[in-house]
Amino acid sequence: TTGLITLDDGYANTGSCRSAITFIDGEQGILRYRGVPIEDLAERSSFIETAELLIFGELPDTEQRDDFRHLLTENSWLHRDMRDHFDAFPTNAHPMSILSAMISALQSHDLPEHHFTDENGFREAAASLLAKTRTIAAASYKSHIGQPIMYPRYDLPYAENFLHMMFSVPYRDYETTPEVAHALNMFLVLHADHEQNCSTSTVRMVASSRANLYASISSGVNALWGPLHGGANMGVIEMLEQIRDGSWTPRQYIDRVKDRRSGVKLMGFGHRVYRNFDPRARILKEAAHSMLDAMHITDPLLDIAREVEQAALSDDYFTSRRLYPNVDFYSGIILRAIGIPVDMFTVMFAIGRTPGWIAHWKEVSDNQRQRIYRPRQIYTGENLSEWRPRAER
Ligand code: SDX
Repeated sequence: TTGLITLDDGYANTGSCRSAITFIDGEQGILRYRGVPIEDLAERSSFIETAELLIFGELPDTEQRDDFRHLLTENSWLHRDMRDHFDAFPTNAHPMSILSAMISALQSHDLPEHHFTDENGFREAAASLLAKTRTIAAASYKSHIGQPIMYPRYDLPYAENFLHMMFSVPYRDYETTPEVAHALNMFLVLHADHEQNCSTSTVRMVASSRANLYASISSGVNALWGPLHGGANMGVIEMLEQIRDGSWTPRQYIDRVKDRRSGVKLMGFGHRVYRNFDPRARILKEAAHSMLDAMHITDPLLDIAREVEQAALSDDYFTSRRLYPNVDFYSGIILRAIGIPVDMFTVMFAIGRTPGWIAHWKEVSDNQRQRIYRPRQIYTGENLSEWRPRAER
């Protein structure tokens, strides 16, 4: 117990809960999905195989994988009425606002059998949400740039299909290279879950009221949007671009961060749990280098990122506070090289995190002993205030 109540009650009265989905050791820099090390999954598993591991608890065999792939393909299109929603958004609508609104709207438009009562129905609803989150993201980009929305192709794997829907046009299909497909797949695997982070805790909290899957995931999208959470990957690029464009040198920017009056954070640095290094940042740093080399791309932001990292890691302001690069510090370099626009970066994080959110929603919903999350507070307001008529106020 924690002195207040047993852990089984989740956030009922404490700030922690039980979960069997993802394990993190912040001191050792360990991250495992259902016990499988992230390093193995990032290098050797597809995003969809990783999603099945997180959602259903084990890596799929060939038959399970083919069955789930079929469900994804069958459920990747949007109901005709849903497409009308895109026309209702202003062209400058932030893609995260479109994504959360459309996922919530899915509850009304998705096939009735996805309002599931059994495991098969849940399996199809999970496939539908994974497939449609990707379709909605690509469609919001196409609507934003005024191009026709591209339908998913039924012969492409998940990551390649997303790139097709993003970058193909009616008269020319986008051809993905193996390096780009591998880099995007790895990006999605590395973002697939991360224990009780802000957005996942939001999904669990909403799930604890027995709200439906779509309502919970839509809430998670909104929590992820914040610049201290999923919005940080956009913040990193904006920071590096400011340095590239001469507003500051890396050293000057670091000094600006150290001057607390600036209120500026070093974006992509720090983590509540990882106190030495974020294993995902290590993998993404290597992937960024090898991908740009393989594609013969030179991105000045990558060189600037390394300079900032070296300056921060040799400065005891950061090392004394145990601040190291997190998942967001290098991920934007990869997305830029793929050609994803910056305002879609947090949407990419959301696409990656969707299987984790689905798994956590299911874990809370399946637990019949689960009580509604109801954190308590330390009250700091007035003790007792007398009501007075307006004339006397
Ligand atoms: C993600 O929880 C998850 O797992 C999240 C995530 C996931 O996969 O879901 O890993 C994804 O959100 C990664 C984090 C992305 N955000 C950023 O990169 C934004 C910059 N980082 C900081 O805002 C901060 O480090 C957080 C939000 C990530 C963590 O915040 P904490 O745990 O509340 O850290 P803190 O504020 O307690 O920091 C302790 C000290 C403070 O200084 P003092 O008051 O002790 O003097 O470190 C300072 C902070 O001011 N600090 C920073 C800093 N992060 C913390 N100072 C400068 N730059 C930073 N980035």
